Amino acid sequence: MDKPKVFVTRLIPEGGLELIRRACEVEVWPGELPPPRQVLLDRVRGLDGLLCLLTDRVDAELLDAAGPQLKVVSNMAVGYDNVDVAAATARGIPVGNTPGVLTETTADMAFALLMAAARRIVEGADYVRAGKWHTWSPTLLLGYDVHGATLGLVGLGRIGRAVARRAAGFEMRILYFDPYCDAGQAPFVDLVPCCSLDDLLAEADFVSLHVPLTAETYHLIGAEALAKMKPTAVLVNTSRGPVVDSDALYEALKEGRIAYAALDVTDPEPLPADHKLLTLPNCLVVPHIASASHATRTRMAIMAAENLLAGLRGERLPNCVNPEVYAARP
Ligand code: GLV
Repeated sequence: MDKPKVFVTRLIPEGGLELIRRACEVEVWPGELPPPRQVLLDRVRGLDGLLCLLTDRVDAELLDAAGPQLKVVSNMAVGYDNVDVAAATARGIPVGNTPGVLTETTADMAFALLMAAARRIVEGADYVRAGKWHTWSPTLLLGYDVHGATLGLVGLGRIGRAVARRAAGFEMRILYFDPYCDAGQAPFVDLVPCCSLDDLLAEADFVSLHVPLTAETYHLIGAEALAKMKPTAVLVNTSRGPVVDSDALYEALKEGRIAYAALDVTDPEPLPADHKLLTLPNCLVVPHIASASHATRTRMAIMAAENLLAGLRGERLPNCVNPEVYAARP
């Protein structure tokens, strides 16, 4: 019997690729950059399965270009705002993602960004490299204490809760705002619920974002929200770039209306080197690497491969974002 045909849109860790190679006729896009749109549209034609990344837009046009034999779309990410899930569901195609395995690694990064911003780590390192370190100074690069400060978590899903556990170790007071979730799901950490985002923004010394990108969260942190924050507050974003309005953030940072932003994700992404946010000393940007540890990326690749292979066999995906496709089946 012919092996199913699959396309993998970038070189992923070998642990995942090996599983796919054993069972499929696989083509892996060799570029460092994502396949251009037209190439992707061409390559998906006649495929049985697609393993894609958050940099690939999977929409109705792409699904139709693939054809009715397409059995599964497996996204190697926990977030899936790059996939038009409704379009996949309408075509009976299950979509997989990789929740859970990247929770702790992403929370580590959120906390690393929080600490780097609070204690001005990157500015300090740049200062030394620039040969400016001539003496110990009582007023050099003063930052903010993390221990004992108030952390505001916007979103209390898996990653938000993992950040809360880290913050508890620093004896932070932890507020959260999440209309879809309650603290019962964050065992052994004391959390203070906020009735509104505004309440959280007004009280928090550190605001860390842990929401998916949806129509509801697009520009959740815009000019109005930023105006509610303390002038000493630090904003950390490891969720999705468009949750924050970049122009409004630039203005708030430039005018000192908030103290600092530390961003793993940006809008646009990638952020061009000449972007105005990068002219600000109080904005730290890293290139969407929150889940980028050797072990976690391997786990994500394996999980994405397992979703893909289950879909190809016509079995339920171990992690499916649109389980309603199964209900719709006769
Ligand atoms: C990364 O951003 C992911 O969603 O896995």
